Amino acid sequence: MNKNSSAKERVAELTALINDHNYRYYILSDPLISDFDFDQLMNELIGLEKDYPELLESDSPTQRVGGEITKNFETVKHVYPMLSLGNTYSEDELREFHERVVKSIPDEKVEYVCELKFDGVAIGIQYENGRFKRAVTRGDGIQGDDVSTNVKTIRSLPLRLKDGNYPEQFEIRGEIILPRATFERINEERIDIGETPFANPRNSASGTLKLQDSGEVAKRKLDCFLYALYGENLPFPSHEEGLKAASSWGFKISNDRKVCQSIEEVFAFINYWEKKRPELPFDIDGVVIKVNSIAQQNELGFTAKSPRWAISFKYKAESGSSQLLSVDYQVGRTGAITPVANLSPVPLAGTIVKRATLHNEDQIVKLDLHVDDTVFVEKGGEIIPKITGVDLSKRKANSKKWNSSTNVRSVILS
Ligand code: IVH
Repeated sequence: MNKNSSAKERVAELTALINDHNYRYYILSDPLISDFDFDQLMNELIGLEKDYPELLESDSPTQRVGGEITKNFETVKHVYPMLSLGNTYSEDELREFHERVVKSIPDEKVEYVCELKFDGVAIGIQYENGRFKRAVTRGDGIQGDDVSTNVKTIRSLPLRLKDGNYPEQFEIRGEIILPRATFERINEERIDIGETPFANPRNSASGTLKLQDSGEVAKRKLDCFLYALYGENLPFPSHEEGLKAASSWGFKISNDRKVCQSIEEVFAFINYWEKKRPELPFDIDGVVIKVNSIAQQNELGFTAKSPRWAISFKYKAESGSSQLLSVDYQVGRTGAITPVANLSPVPLAGTIVKRATLHNEDQIVKLDLHVDDTVFVEKGGEIIPKITGVDLSKRKANSKKWNSSTNVRSVILS
């Protein structure tokens, strides 16, 4: 065997090994080897690809670390239009949706799949012969941006599918998210270097996806949950079976979903996750309810904008009011200042909130904040509660405008 063909074999072997370890680590959360041993494999592959550039493939696991700079993302047309979903905040409207569905498919039992509604950025990812081909943002639903180089940095996303009966060509759609812990770390860093922090994990995921330097994207550690398959003549009779197959090919499909036999079960799922929501490591903004049977989905069809077989039930952003006690000025290493309000404790979305961000001095001016004001606090998609307004009906007569130079309680240096 010559040197070249043994290098080729070793590259293939390392690629398969690394892909498998990635899967165990990022999807099963059950790693078999240490980070050190993983890095050894990766370094060996990087070395071989350097010595034999002809062996470097675009879906090699080494390509996840990024480095490519994209000046302008290419606009591409979606193979399947990227529609959105009808949404509701009300139980009655959800019952109406159910009644419409049942009416359109008389004499048949209807099952629903309930899924979490991930609060991130929609993405469509095309695969060909089991390999990542390209990833496109929603854009206007007809065409979006090719953000492949950035999406390839997502470790939980397979660049090569595990052996299985996958279609030659298909698209899988999902939501790119940034876990809350990562979002907080990024914001701390931004404050430190004097940049404006992101308002919530969704904005930071969307900002990250549009970065020109994929090396930077790789450092941000985006994640991606997949929830829909598109292709010609897909062989799955139900949505649930499609998801199970996609999971067996190596995609990250949330297990926090349920096939429901009745609308009451759907409500139970919604209520369960409304309570559990604060315990998730990422943000959700509701639940998506989909008719399970593909034949029934086809029967129901689409309106101009969205499918008739699915709806999202959105959770209300939890808000409350509380009294402003004082404001701390947090100063980052580089001097960026973030005013943070101390509040009388208020229960919101499962936690007791005592502090909320005022973002920056401009925000204090915009809110026309006064000393001792009663303020509205909101904890929606974002983990850091924010002050969204002032309850003017509770403002004390002759209260004084908030003055950052005289009302400072403390300056916290981080
Ligand atoms: S299904 C035909 N499932 O919410 C539409 N969407 O408001 C198929 N989303 O466009 C979408 N989690 O960006 C679906 N489990 C989930 C989802 C989900 C989040 C997003 C997605 C969608 C938007 C609709």
